[in-house]
Amino acid sequence: MNVYLDNAATTPMLPEVVDAMLPFMRDHFGNPSSTHAFGRKTKTSIEQARRRIATHMGVAPKTICFTSGGTEADNMALHAAVEQLGCQRILTCATEHKAVLATAELMAAKEGISMDLIPLLDNGKVDLKVLEDWLSDGVPTLVSVMHGNNEVGVLQDIEAIGQCCRRHGALFHTDTVQTMGHYRMNLGDLPIDFAACSAHKLHGPKGTGFLYVRDGLRIGAHITGGSQERAMRGGTENLIGIMGLAKALDLAFHDLKDHEVHIRGLKAQLVSGIQASVPGVRFNVDSDEEDALYTVLSVNFPAHPKNGMLLFLLDLEGVACSGGSACSSGSAQPSHVLSGLGLHDPERMSIRFSFSRLTTPACIDHAIEAVRAIRKEEVQA
Ligand SMILES: Cc1ncc(COP(=O)(O)O)c(C=O)c1O
Repeated sequence: MNVYLDNAATTPMLPEVVDAMLPFMRDHFGNPSSTHAFGRKTKTSIEQARRRIATHMGVAPKTICFTSGGTEADNMALHAAVEQLGCQRILTCATEHKAVLATAELMAAKEGISMDLIPLLDNGKVDLKVLEDWLSDGVPTLVSVMHGNNEVGVLQDIEAIGQCCRRHGALFHTDTVQTMGHYRMNLGDLPIDFAACSAHKLHGPKGTGFLYVRDGLRIGAHITGGSQERAMRGGTENLIGIMGLAKALDLAFHDLKDHEVHIRGLKAQLVSGIQASVPGVRFNVDSDEEDALYTVLSVNFPAHPKNGMLLFLLDLEGVACSGGSACSSGSAQPSHVLSGLGLHDPERMSIRFSFSRLTTPACIDHAIEAVRAIRKEEVQA
């Protein structure tokens, strides 16, 4: 049996999503910028998809700018804030995705802005007192803090962070790649200026997503050469991807609560199964708690001679999971998220298990058995 417990890296597409995309591969191929009937058909479909997505988010359709996914949306927000909206400083966290961290670092090096990392509390949450204090100096600032952390599942209070930003006239971008479609989010009611979404984290296709840009913020071209996406992002739209994204979000919000209950049950099953099999196991920054991203469990295994092979051994047992984010797995470097949280311990081994609506209790049983089998070997060794 092979089980997939790496849904924070990507999720399988749902059949309904594939079905929603197929007509745009087979039949409706017109360039949405063409003025003839073929183009008008696809243009209308894109605008309908945008309207459906905007309705889910409680915002105006014009605030949704389709991108190639989360990385581009994060890049776009940071560049727009600094290059077009006058921000002279980026405040972010050591635990952000590299799409934010590396972009901010590069901009600080090239564009002469400053970049600082907001300290985190022991539970991984932003220290709001420090943020309030730093912002009170009045320097035009972009704050970029993710909603749900992809490696350890820390959930930030984006409402409180956004309110703090509002009080000081700072802009606020949040990477909601891991939470969009998993939590109800009325962006229009939240003090947020930018938010990033990626379709493939919610059973949609890879290579598509969007950046939410708050109504009233006017930003210019992020990609030049075409007037698509209200001239914010030139280039023929990813029509097929956008159809999949809209369908994936429709499905996500349709029975979100049921899926959340289902996934929380699986997570609790894995927590108790691992606790029963592995003395001394811990869960990184309370990722087993209620107030954590429910789709992610970051397990911190005690010292073991085969810790370095754990991912590989789990893979051999048919369990697909991850040592960190998909982007950093394969790298010999410790995860920047665990290091940023002071949790990197060369003696111990952190493994991320992440779940989706398609995960079943049998998948979890299999993973627990696999962990047990590997630990049994350890005892005999
Ligand atoms: C939190 C977070 N931000 C951004 C990204 C990048 O999204 P995409 O793969 O759509 O570029 C990911 C994907 O790993 C992520 O987990």
